[in-house]
Amino acid sequence: MFSIFKSKPKKDSPSILIDIHSHLLPAIDDGAKTMEEAWQIIRTFEDLGYVKLNTTPHIMNDFYRNTPLGIQTKKDQLTNFLKEKYCSIQIEAAAEYYLDESLLQSVENNEALMTFGNQKYLLFETNFLTEPYPLKDFIFKITTKGYKPVLAHPERYEYLHKTFDKLEDLRNRGVLFQLNLLSLIGFYSIPIQRMAESMIDKGWVDFIGSDCHNTQYSVLIEKAQRTKYFKKALDLPLLNNSL
Ligand SMILES: [Fe+2]
Repeated sequence: MFSIFKSKPKKDSPSILIDIHSHLLPAIDDGAKTMEEAWQIIRTFEDLGYVKLNTTPHIMNDFYRNTPLGIQTKKDQLTNFLKEKYCSIQIEAAAEYYLDESLLQSVENNEALMTFGNQKYLLFETNFLTEPYPLKDFIFKITTKGYKPVLAHPERYEYLHKTFDKLEDLRNRGVLFQLNLLSLIGFYSIPIQRMAESMIDKGWVDFIGSDCHNTQYSVLIEKAQRTKYFKKALDLPLLNNSL
């Protein structure tokens, strides 16, 4: 049926309002170093219309031994700092878990893992070169425990580049995919950009995230949001704004 609402210009439709992946809590991983730097980055998000940022410090046994309590404490400090600056953007915190022995042990011990949203979304990453041998077992265990695994930046893993079969297999096992915004402008490499574009073509993107670490990333977000493929991704049933 004809509706006057269908003629509304597309550019007025909402973009992504909620970011789910960043490293903004100062000095606990390789992201922002100070509150001031975090604030500078956050203002860029605010200018672009974002209303909520779910920031996700690394938890990686060999490098960043962050804990839920430490992350929550830092998040509260940042929230108070932003209040003093009259910044109204909402900050939440979870983690980006690296698939290592320590994570497997936490799962085995039934420790509570940091998630985001009301669906127990669990953001995780792996090494970039070879498929970790416990990947499928890990996915089985956490989905059985009620978590919804979200693989950070699948387009960046070399072991997923050669064929789409592995990505399809992960999807069939219940893994959601989070694409990095800056992959769309070739920030990491051209093959990674092409992989990101193919994933959008296939509709295999559930979340888009900035994975913002510092101001060199944040100044490029607007450029990435102007790409043809970002606009194409907005036509997918992305979950960002449902959080
Ligand atoms: Fe990250």
